[in-house]
Amino acid sequence: MELKGLVKSNEFLTSQRDVFQLRIELNREFEFKPGQFINVYCPNKVLPRPISIADKEGNIITLLVRIVGEGTDFLSKTKIGDRVKVIGPLGKGFNTSHGMDKKVAIIGGGIGVAPLLGLRKANFKDAKYYLGFNSEGILVEEFKKVYPTTITYLTEDTTVLEAFEESLKTEVYNFVYACGPEGMLKKLQDILQKNKIPGELSVEKKMACGVGGCLICTCETTKGKKRVCKEGPVFDSQEVLFSE
Ligand SMILES: Cc1cc2nc3c(=O)[nH]c(=O)nc-3n(C[C@H](O)[C@H](O)[C@H](O)COP(=O)(O)OP(=O)(O)OC[C@H]3O[C@@H](n4cnc5c(N)ncnc54)[C@H](O)[C@@H]3O)c2cc1C
Ligand code: FES
Repeated sequence: MELKGLVKSNEFLTSQRDVFQLRIELNREFEFKPGQFINVYCPNKVLPRPISIADKEGNIITLLVRIVGEGTDFLSKTKIGDRVKVIGPLGKGFNTSHGMDKKVAIIGGGIGVAPLLGLRKANFKDAKYYLGFNSEGILVEEFKKVYPTTITYLTEDTTVLEAFEESLKTEVYNFVYACGPEGMLKKLQDILQKNKIPGELSVEKKMACGVGGCLICTCETTKGKKRVCKEGPVFDSQEVLFSE
């Protein structure tokens, strides 16, 4: 669904000014599941940029974006009242019903925390966030509002996995939701397999169309090749075959 957006606010979240929070009011109401994304058009760029919907209140969506190239740099410079064209919501989000009535760990690395923000509204009976950042944290207080036990690590993303693995000696988690860099997800996949914990991982691939037509975003899975934009970006934790 193509939507017209109006920038409501845009602010940097880190002192290095490399991550920003963009709130966009869309011209239509729509349902979304945490983990789904939108495709945002940027001027002079044929291909739209996929960005997770971090949160949604009415018609206003929140995006958390790291500047990596021209498209994200353009978005960082948009001002209140600017118009942006988006398509969405796209992809398959997290299935929150897996975590209801269970003890859930939600694990994020770097800008991978973006699609996990929405999970704080899922009303899990018992959940704990494990967030890892290479330097500054992103919206940590926001995560802690709902789950005060949130643990953050301002070191390498993998440290957060060590902490999660350590916690398994004393705590029982029945389901895990995660998003982060590929290396981190691969390690987490191994930990989950070893400890027989089911989960869902949101994975990232370079995308072009974002709607299933071009096959650029395919990844290997235990069930053959799948399109991250259409069958993902959220997959069963043991389904994706990471190349590393
Ligand atoms: C499902 C999904 C959700 C995402 N959610 C977020 C988010 O919430 N916040 C955030 O900061 N980033 C997110 N990303 C990564 C984001 O899409 C890229 O950083 C962005 O497209 C880079 O665009 P650019 O023009 O700044 O960089 P360029 O390097 O100029 O991009 C060139 C091309 O490569 C594609 N591309 C480049 N890097 C990526 C990447 N890592 N993943 C997918 N496509 C890429 C772009 O779409 C574009 O077509 C997400 C990616 C995917 C696949
Ligand atoms: S980006 Fe075109 S099929 Fe996924």
